[in-house]
Amino acid sequence: MCGIVGYVGGRPCRDLLIAGLEKLEYRGYDSAGLSLLDDGHIDSVRAVGNLANLRAAVADERDAGAVAVAQTEATIGLAHTRWATHGRVTEENAHPHSDEEGDVHIVLNGIVENHSELRRGRIADGHEFSSETDAEIVAHLIERHYDGDLTEAVRAAFADLRGHYAFVAMHVEHPGMLVGARQECPLVIGLGKGETFLASAIPAFLRETRTVMRIENGEIVTIDEDGATVTDADGEPHEREIEEVTWDEDAAERGGYPTFMMKEIHEQPDAVAETITDRLPELDEVDLSELTLTPEQSTRIRRVVIVACGTSYHAGLVGRYAIEAWGRIPVEMDIASEYRYRDPVVSPDDLVVGITQSGETADTLAAMRLARERGAHVLAITNVMGSQATRDADSVLFTRAGLEIGVAATKTFTSQVAAIYLLGLWMAQARGELDAARVTELIGELKSLPRKIGETIEGTEAQVRAVARSHYEGRFFLFLGRHIGLPVCLEGALKMKEISYIPSDAYAAGEMKHGPIALLDETTPVVCVATDSPVLEKTLSNMAEVRARGADVIAIATEGSEQVCDDADQTLFVPRTDWILQPILAVIPLQLLAYHTARLLGLNVDQPRNLAKTVTVE
Ligand code: G6P
Repeated sequence: MCGIVGYVGGRPCRDLLIAGLEKLEYRGYDSAGLSLLDDGHIDSVRAVGNLANLRAAVADERDAGAVAVAQTEATIGLAHTRWATHGRVTEENAHPHSDEEGDVHIVLNGIVENHSELRRGRIADGHEFSSETDAEIVAHLIERHYDGDLTEAVRAAFADLRGHYAFVAMHVEHPGMLVGARQECPLVIGLGKGETFLASAIPAFLRETRTVMRIENGEIVTIDEDGATVTDADGEPHEREIEEVTWDEDAAERGGYPTFMMKEIHEQPDAVAETITDRLPELDEVDLSELTLTPEQSTRIRRVVIVACGTSYHAGLVGRYAIEAWGRIPVEMDIASEYRYRDPVVSPDDLVVGITQSGETADTLAAMRLARERGAHVLAITNVMGSQATRDADSVLFTRAGLEIGVAATKTFTSQVAAIYLLGLWMAQARGELDAARVTELIGELKSLPRKIGETIEGTEAQVRAVARSHYEGRFFLFLGRHIGLPVCLEGALKMKEISYIPSDAYAAGEMKHGPIALLDETTPVVCVATDSPVLEKTLSNMAEVRARGADVIAIATEGSEQVCDDADQTLFVPRTDWILQPILAVIPLQLLAYHTARLLGLNVDQPRNLAKTVTVE
């Protein structure tokens, strides 16, 4: 979840750019950099770590000779915060990147999927690259296409690229112009008086201007101090509406959403895309080369044990179905706070997976350490670089959800689920458990998840809000599901408890008749996860039993499964995908249900009572 800020205008912009980056820090990053054009040449400064390190590196340039950076006169520049995807966290891999001559500088968010092929082409033509990133190719392509017109060179480079990204370019021969392009990643223009900004999010320039223009997919934008010109891939001009942003500073940090939780629910398509895209480079390949566990070693794993707490535990429960179904490897689930006290039997053939978004949860860390001491290979799935979990594990698989501020985990949950899908598929492939056609089919489905998550949010929110209005004053919510639907119910009930404070329970639907059915009457809302699965018919029978007690059944179903409506009072449809992947979509209406219920009750969803984002003490 990188950040972009660009400026062209009449004011010295070095400090404006760094201030813009500070407003994008919430997205998470591991390095940062900026380039400034002044007096006929471009100078760059980059630094690993936080923006304090970048500021220190900028100050050092006074001695190191990067004149444009050291002096404050430059009135055009680019800046970036990087969250490593391709290539390690190093100064060389931090943005901006340039061509060999240093004439073109670029910053990029997202992923260029065909970078290897394009890079090979440039290397064959005798060019050299200075980083391991997928982004650097964009500077080289612009240089190759450049014939005096920067906008046309960007347009031609854009046509060569595949993936999801947004980038901004600066050329030494154009001291009054920046050119950007967008494909799936955000890019927005800020129009000031005699100055223009181009950034990945509005907060980057909100202190300077509230007048914005949004760029759409497939568009190229050229900015100068007088404004912006938007064109499409063929050079046809596009008219864009100018908007006035009315957010205050607080709302700006929330991206215009009323709460961080809602913002983070809406960031899920991006978070999942960031987590999966470059790990699925081809339709027949899962690339987890970042693990120290090799595919060959993974074939010797006899058992997977997942340890985690809270929402991360539910992500593990979802993953268990995928790992068992695809890789035919037994998976045991353990709540981390229980695991370490039961003197667990661990063998060197075990893979112990610790899932922790913060990487700092004491119980999960202790469980991982114990497993490691007893000889297992320990793999951490975490969202935070440099966290304790990354130091206590043999292998690390990062989710790339960006910083999550709301205490209730949403985008980190779906990113964890996506990461476990990758792990399950990678192990299944290494062990030869899936044929090539099935692998390709699953990779295609995984790649479509970000889009389908977006469709689920858009497609269900209004209906969920209506359901919340009908039930927010209720005294109890029950969540029922079977098989792959059960962990979704557990997560739905947890969300309802933690942010709405309404007692809620999740049950395996087949167990309901053994006790919980006594709780049901006509005042009880019962949320049934009835997405496609091999047990859908059984779930429908359970729903019929619930309705026979007069309870109000709210079903989550897969698009096209119209039969579910017969046993439900209301049905919320989520897009169709492979049934093993269905939970990552089915959970979204349940996140929204807890959210809207809590808001109707007037509760603070970002900071629920008695709860903290990270639980580090025992
Ligand atoms: C806290 C948070 C939960 C989270 C759990 C585990 O209780 O409130 O949202 O699921 O910790 O956190 P972790 O960082 O280990 O995933």
